[in-house]
Amino acid sequence: MSRVGVVGAGYVGLTTGACLAHLGHDVIVGDIDADKVRRLTKGDVDVLEEGLPELVAEGLATRRLRFVVGAAAAAADAEFVFLCVPTPEGEGGDADLSVVEAAVREVAPVLPPGAVLVNKSTVPVGSSGHVGRLLRAAGAVPEVGVASNPEFLREGTAVRDFLSPARVVIGADDPTVAVRVSDLYRDVQGPVLVTSTASAEMVKYASNAFLAAKVSFVNAIANLCEAVNADVREVTLGMGYDPRIGFEFLHPGPGWGGSCFPKDTAALARTAARVGDDFPMLAAVIATNREQRDRVVGKVRDAVGGDLAGRTVAAWGLTFKANTNDLRDSPAIDIARRLLGEGATVRGYDPAGGEAARGLLPGLEVLADPYEACAGADVLCVLTEWDEFRWLDYERVATVLPGRAIVDARNVLDPAAMRHLGFTYRGIGR
Ligand SMILES: NC(=O)c1ccc[n+]([C@@H]2O[C@H](COP(=O)([O-])OP(=O)(O)OC[C@H]3O[C@@H](n4cnc5c(N)ncnc54)[C@H](O)[C@@H]3O)[C@@H](O)[C@H]2O)c1
Repeated sequence: MSRVGVVGAGYVGLTTGACLAHLGHDVIVGDIDADKVRRLTKGDVDVLEEGLPELVAEGLATRRLRFVVGAAAAAADAEFVFLCVPTPEGEGGDADLSVVEAAVREVAPVLPPGAVLVNKSTVPVGSSGHVGRLLRAAGAVPEVGVASNPEFLREGTAVRDFLSPARVVIGADDPTVAVRVSDLYRDVQGPVLVTSTASAEMVKYASNAFLAAKVSFVNAIANLCEAVNADVREVTLGMGYDPRIGFEFLHPGPGWGGSCFPKDTAALARTAARVGDDFPMLAAVIATNREQRDRVVGKVRDAVGGDLAGRTVAAWGLTFKANTNDLRDSPAIDIARRLLGEGATVRGYDPAGGEAARGLLPGLEVLADPYEACAGADVLCVLTEWDEFRWLDYERVATVLPGRAIVDARNVLDPAAMRHLGFTYRGIGR
């Protein structure tokens, strides 16, 4: 079993640390946020991830998982150091690597000989080389290796995705390093693929761009379905049974968002531009996504008779998808912002992200109860596919929502049942 340092205790770092400890490794997770470190040391996990609090508790109890303040403290005695820090969208769409660079400078002087710095943050092609040069410049001993190990976990099922991944990709230009990093994963249930560092970095961007393309494609089909009177639910069912297509990411909605797809598609477009490739298909994927947000706002506007000024919209679902409390780059928040911008009052409700949404947008009211959010509203807009929205009491909604209009941007409700209750119903592509 190995001594592992993890830099960053967010979705990726905390999951990586807790899962590697569960697999028997000795893990120290370092974060710059001292409050977070204090909470985690007590077993307090503030992200909504099935199974993660239990794994953190297990790791603390066995003392195989510890939390410290700062990257250097996590790296000082490690054989492997995983970088799991943010790489947000920077100038012009490029990935902003400043946090990665800061972390590399911090760990460089303390990495013991033979240690491997493993990059799990999503970084553009060529970053492993950049990190290697930075390490030397910042005083690392020459016997420190570099590997790329992009992360594919999905928020909400992060633990399952880590322990039973569709695949693990390890990019290393030195075969010894590749074997050593692969060995850390010997007990996970999934194939381990070893590639060059450039290929590993590209796998991550290509995968996210492909999934974003699938969603943009199905949104475009949904819009076409509306124009020709087809039902996109029937169409995607007919498509998804084809194993070459599959059902995943085949759900129309308000467009993709979250902490990864927007920045990763933008960064890939910049990578392409840098080598003189316009990548028009990727540009269309991004543009289609932007237009989809406009379409949803348009549906809400239509539902209230063409002018949102002075109208009240109940917005159910504020997180970027169901089963997470993550609001980063949420389509729901973007749509709420646009509705507020057109003069509407927006009364939001979310099963898990409500607290965090308070104060996020000036003017956005956040209620603790879905029916309360509908009180006095002209229209109810369903923006996130939380399962509980299927099972709420719509007779009760009808009594508190004077506008009797629903825009179901996730197609979670039954249009016939809603119309039967007296609502006008607008879904996506049906
Ligand atoms: N969230 C996802 O679903 C997901 C999935 C795959 C890949 N990724 C990628 O993984 C990376 C991390 O994403 P995340 O969602 O876990 O981010 P996050 O924002 O949830 O967590 C990042 C953590 O790093 C800490 N941090 C920042 N600078 C630090 C430093 N110098 N030293 C120590 N800690 C520091 C922050 O305090 C924070 O706790 C990104 O590159 C992201 O694109 C994310």
